[in-house]
Amino acid sequence: MKKILLINGPNLGLLGQREPEVYGRETLDDLVAAARRRAAELGAEMDSFQSDGEGELVSRIGQALNHYDGIVINPAAYTHTSVAIRDALAAVALPAVEVHLSNVYRREEFRHRSLMAPVCLGQICGFGGFGYILAVEALLHHLG
Ligand code: DQA
Repeated sequence: MKKILLINGPNLGLLGQREPEVYGRETLDDLVAAARRRAAELGAEMDSFQSDGEGELVSRIGQALNHYDGIVINPAAYTHTSVAIRDALAAVALPAVEVHLSNVYRREEFRHRSLMAPVCLGQICGFGGFGYILAVEALLHHLG
């Protein structure tokens, strides 16, 4: 059975209350449950981790090596700033899909650059919580 890890970065624990006009009304627990259900339907197991801290995210990615077949990650604001998270993804070299709830390219210019994109299989953004399901499907399709 394939095993995947869903990672969520800073402020995503506030989903549901946080700028609902941008990020929707679903909570992180809702999104994780829906993604886990889809993974199970496709015969995979999914663990989930959220942290507001860059170091914790880096550590969790490092620990994923030899335990998971792939990663779905919403690095949130760190997408645009974190060389450390990008290097962690490159270091473990697990297939990874980057996901964002909002369409970052319709927003402020500082959100247009992703430091993660070059070390990910691909990026899904702009479809709200449904993007998490698409990301799980894309990762599992890649893993075969
Ligand atoms: C986000 C987009 C980022 O620019 C922002 O900093 C977030 C959430 C998204 O899911 O749309 O915190 O990753």
